[in-house]
Amino acid sequence: MQNFDYMTPTRLIFGENVIEKLPEVMTAIGKNVLLTYGGGSIKKIGLYDRVMELLKDFNITELPGIQPNPKYDPSVLEGVRLCKEKNIDVILAVGGGSVLDCSKAIAAGAKYDGDPWDLISYKVKAQAALPIVDILTLAATGSEYDCGGVISRTETNDKIGYLDPLLFPVCSFLDPRYTFSVSKKQTAAGCADAMNHIMEQYFCEDATLLNDGFCEAGLKSLMVNTKKCLENPEDYTARAEMMFACTLGCNGIYALGNSHSGWPCHGIEHALSAYYDITHGEGLAIITPRWMRHILSERTIDRFVKYGINVFGIDPSLSKQEIAEKAIDATYAFFESINIPMHLREVGIGEERIDEMAHHIAVNEGLENAYAPLTEQDIKEILVASL
Ligand code: NZQ
Ligand code: ZN
Repeated sequence: MQNFDYMTPTRLIFGENVIEKLPEVMTAIGKNVLLTYGGGSIKKIGLYDRVMELLKDFNITELPGIQPNPKYDPSVLEGVRLCKEKNIDVILAVGGGSVLDCSKAIAAGAKYDGDPWDLISYKVKAQAALPIVDILTLAATGSEYDCGGVISRTETNDKIGYLDPLLFPVCSFLDPRYTFSVSKKQTAAGCADAMNHIMEQYFCEDATLLNDGFCEAGLKSLMVNTKKCLENPEDYTARAEMMFACTLGCNGIYALGNSHSGWPCHGIEHALSAYYDITHGEGLAIITPRWMRHILSERTIDRFVKYGINVFGIDPSLSKQEIAEKAIDATYAFFESINIPMHLREVGIGEERIDEMAHHIAVNEGLENAYAPLTEQDIKEILVASL
């Protein structure tokens, strides 16, 4: 077991009607609020109106229109400008992971005099950030309980995971009812994203029985509850358990004491969504089984055997190779069963830019140090197998 140093300062307020506590939480932080949101889903579900009513005594400035795979220009730049101009005390992010991530970059940029890209690209370490409160409307990324934000810069095809402990939300409101309206496509993609977060922590050299148990339970919970959410989008219990499983998935708690894994599928997927603006969870679902098949070897097989038996209930009396292969097939079959397109071509990615993306990933993602090290050639083979 490895050493670790862990703290999550985020307050989670979970359950039906919890946003009634919003004024109390916000009052303790400040009056001038930057309200960030996406393309309008929060208006359709009545959440925008409720927030405005609850915060009628606050000074609200709005930053709408944050897109999936949130963009540095215009959203981050515009948010930073507004924070400085309006002397913002706190950012209230209402939406999915993209809104939360963008808000985190804005929070750091608002306290920095130079170009915010200096911070996102790790050229300069942030010295301070505005506090962030969020109301989550989509179960997937875990951004509500971690200190990362993923920001895209279109002109350079960069999509960077920007992490800094300053960026943990102060408080996250999690009311599963606000996820009832999430489409089947985004529900399935959210499940694939959260499952992959867990797998990225599970597949490593040195893991504990304790963490393996958490991960295996998390994966099973996500598979069972996502199916229920797809059958009945207003199943409160299923939406609630899915939401909490996603919240825990990316916080690092499942990997405390584990050795470094390198998060290879994320390293690869971030390039796909940077180059082609695809849905993150769909990209991960496509890559994951191909990555698994690519790294299956004598060295890694025991992890696949454990995964296959404990997550999918595969017969332990089969040979190791059979169990591992069945486990990979079962992973693929599950994603297919929730209607995720399982080929890159189905999400608009052909072979044209595979070489360029493989090179970009090899140079930027450090996957030569992953649990199963990946060279540029390995990355290319995984991408080609995913076509
Ligand atoms: O923009 P609006 O109108 O709100 O619509 C959104 C968007 O079109 C919609 N949506 C959100 N809540 C809804 C809803 N539609 C109906 N009802 C609701 N209640 O869903 C669409 C997708 O939203 P988005 O926020 O992009 O999805 P998600 O939460 O999956 O976030 C994806 C982004 O997070 C990054 C991804 O790379 C991607 O950019 N990630 C962030 C991580 C983190 N901070 O830790 C880790 C992840 O690995 C991931 O990389
Ligand atoms: Zn992810």
